[in-house]
Amino acid sequence: METTVAQLLNDQINKELYSAYLYLDMSNYYEDAGLSGFAAWYRKQAEEEQEHALKIYDYLHDNGEKVTLEAIAKPALTYASIEDPAREALKHEQYVTSLIHNLYAAAVEAKDYRTQQFLVWFITEQGEEEKNARDIVDELAFCAQDKAALYLMNSRMGSRD
Ligand code: FEO
Repeated sequence: METTVAQLLNDQINKELYSAYLYLDMSNYYEDAGLSGFAAWYRKQAEEEQEHALKIYDYLHDNGEKVTLEAIAKPALTYASIEDPAREALKHEQYVTSLIHNLYAAAVEAKDYRTQQFLVWFITEQGEEEKNARDIVDELAFCAQDKAALYLMNSRMGSRD
């Protein structure tokens, strides 16, 4: 595998693990805010991000590449309202999409067809992640100030499987 592609994949493991940490921090915020359904949703999201990291970890190992685990940054965002984590989650997913697209462009440049095929799953996944994040922002815009509606949304967020 070309060094640039292998390095970007290795970096992406760290980005996905940071995403897991960021979502756990959002879950932590919602737990404190008394919204256990939101907390459960973001905790589940944190688990998904760990799975994303492991997919790349396995792919590098399966292709005889070395994996280096770097330090994971502290999630440093502070939230002033229950809409804030949801907005930050959408921004974060848009950022992750840009990273995946950069990776794909590097694989195209390197004529690395196997990695291009591997990344198609992530490209599709990012579309879904952005949609989910945007739906939460949109729904919160309607119900953040309405306790009854928020209660219902919280219950539904808690039933994510
Ligand atoms: Fe692994 Fe939410 O991107």
